[in-house]
Amino acid sequence: MDGSDEQEAAFYAIIDADGRIEPRDDMPEAYRRSLVRQIAQHAHSEIIGMQPEGNWISRAPSLRRKAILLAKVQDEAGHGLYLYAAAETLGVSRDELLDKLHTRRQKYSSIFNYPTLTWADVGAIGWLVDGAAITNQIPLTRCSYGPYARAMVRICKEESFHQRQGFEALLALTRGTPEQKAMAQDALNRWWYPSLAMFGPPDTEGGGAKRSTHTEQSMRWGIKRFSNDELRQRFVDMTVPQADVLGLRMPDPDLRWNDERGHYDFTPPDWDELFAVINGDGPCNAQRIEHRVSAHHEGQWVRDAASAYAAKRQRHLEGVA
Ligand code: 3HC
Repeated sequence: MDGSDEQEAAFYAIIDADGRIEPRDDMPEAYRRSLVRQIAQHAHSEIIGMQPEGNWISRAPSLRRKAILLAKVQDEAGHGLYLYAAAETLGVSRDELLDKLHTRRQKYSSIFNYPTLTWADVGAIGWLVDGAAITNQIPLTRCSYGPYARAMVRICKEESFHQRQGFEALLALTRGTPEQKAMAQDALNRWWYPSLAMFGPPDTEGGGAKRSTHTEQSMRWGIKRFSNDELRQRFVDMTVPQADVLGLRMPDPDLRWNDERGHYDFTPPDWDELFAVINGDGPCNAQRIEHRVSAHHEGQWVRDAASAYAAKRQRHLEGVA
């Protein structure tokens, strides 16, 4: 878009009518760049997110749990592919995006830099992390950029299975032996605040925290429908009653229902910890990228084989021997 007034006006007419911007539409370069940033980092989060749970596939406590976990981790790979495909409609290549991930020039969600220490962590990730992901992703099904919104429709359907299987795995533990219930409580204690941090920095400065930098513009463009704090509050309000069903204690002494607000009051995550993890100083940042880079290199033969097959098939279709 050369930024002519007419083109700009046509773009905002679609946004203000709650329409969809499609790949062939004129769009401000800043809109395109912000979408590449968010969609790429979303895709990176999906494929890095396979590691914490993948770590437990060979140690699942039953064949049924192993099959469920295999299906979930495979889904996450698929979510990454849908999202890389959506990003490619904006004129970037998957190779370029993966290179930025591997060289730490693009981010992935902070949540995946925490270790999965027990089987209960697999349940907590499904219940809390995928629960937070659903809260954050359902509004994205109405994102102004068509390919992203459509990718999110399918992803959200699969996330519901992810959240439910995690909750069910924890329910089995909390109805098991006292040791199993204690394992579930320990997992909630460790995953609660990092899950709240998934929604990003606060909307306003305060408590020494840097505020969200993209929310205002992202909401003007119809990429984000709600602010980070609005979605965080929605997640807390949804999740606390579920912890009651599990018989687990929320690890926040200041959490309580506020009749006036019609929401739970809660302790925010540690913003210094969030920014430290975002900047690479989380418990597993180095391990996650090392594993990703080596998996990418080990998979080169698959990409070479697929390209060779595609080239041979193309020659066949063109009638070249
Ligand atoms: N982890 C890593 N980086 C984060 C972050 C987090 N939890 N929260 C914010 N950031 C980064 C942002 O990317 C931005 O950095 P950048 O300018 O280099 O991109 C900076 O911190 C400022 O944050 P903002 O709030 O201004 O940024 P956004 O407006 O992009 O909001 C977001 C952050 C809410 C994560 C938004 O990008 C978003 O909704 N993304 C799509 C959903 C997504 O990526 N979810 C991640 C988890 S995916 C998942 O859980 C998969 C499931 O299957 C398990």
